[in-house]
Amino acid sequence: MKVMGIASGRKGGNSEALLKEALLACQEKGAEVSMINLHDFNILHCNGCEGCMINIMKGGKDPFCVYKEKDDYFMIAEKMMEMDAIIITAPTYDLMPASIYLAFAHRGLPFEVSLLEKQGIIDEAPDRVCGLISMGGSTRSWQSMALEGLAATTFMGSLEVVDMMLATGNSAYGQVFLKPEQIARARKLGENIFEARSTPKGQRKWMGEEDMGLCPVCHANAIAKGEVHWDGVHFPLECIVCGAGGDLVQGDDGKYKFVLAENGMSRVRVDPRCRDLHLDEIKENHKTTGMNREKIQPLIQKYKAIEIPKTLESKHK
Ligand SMILES: Cc1cc2nc3c(=O)[nH]c(=O)nc-3n(C[C@H](O)[C@H](O)[C@H](O)COP(=O)(O)O)c2cc1C
Repeated sequence: MKVMGIASGRKGGNSEALLKEALLACQEKGAEVSMINLHDFNILHCNGCEGCMINIMKGGKDPFCVYKEKDDYFMIAEKMMEMDAIIITAPTYDLMPASIYLAFAHRGLPFEVSLLEKQGIIDEAPDRVCGLISMGGSTRSWQSMALEGLAATTFMGSLEVVDMMLATGNSAYGQVFLKPEQIARARKLGENIFEARSTPKGQRKWMGEEDMGLCPVCHANAIAKGEVHWDGVHFPLECIVCGAGGDLVQGDDGKYKFVLAENGMSRVRVDPRCRDLHLDEIKENHKTTGMNREKIQPLIQKYKAIEIPKTLESKHK
């Protein structure tokens, strides 16, 4: 079993320490482990050109990106495709995963595995389980989108998240070493990853705390008021991470639970069929745009030509 760790915090910092502990646990069980820290790589920002999608739609035989030869992203993504398990950690900045990790993750569109599979670029989606570790100085209150933000980046790669850990109260460099319980939890996460990947796909279970989060599907702790989807589907409330739909229901114990609607799994993003529906939505947008090209083109030109005075110029570009 090959397990890869992806760190994005300070070198030798709190999140790297927990990642290493999780990887050591995997190694002790017999896994071949390795890790990278994104600070050691050059990752350009996705520029939104959609070249990767156009390549797939035109029947391209390999994943493509205009930056393919210009930075390190493809090298890392290709390695990730060979893995059995991936453990991702990021420090929390402004309630969310640090932007260096998000910039990396947003380059993942050329490797949307269900799409690659459908187009015959890969024979089958790699079977990869995943663990997530968010690291922050505060409690959940100041890390409210940290694990949720990491989890949101796992769908495109069909990474099966089986455990997540929110490490709290570590602002200072090395502070996590004052928290043996967090080191132990990271070790448990590593063991859980190993056990999950040793279990056949389909029989795996959520390995984290049973009561973690509100969503019974992805265990995210972020439920929002639902709004009508592009095709009319509407749930009273939705998990903002996986898209499960349902409502809060008060149990006999007086506690509220997020209970799935009858069709509540119909938009869950972990399911490639639901991602296909989203692809239909995107195709529909492109179709509408294509049909209205004559109307849109002059407006594109008009707005491009409008010169708003620049607030300032970069000194570094
Ligand atoms: C720019 C910046 C923003 C931060 N924002 C948050 C935050 O919103 N919530 C939080 O809990 N910690 C926040 N922190 C603290 C870091 O998450 C914390 O220091 C963490 O231990 C860093 O992990 P590392 O040692 O692996 O780099 C922030 C730190 C920095 C540098």
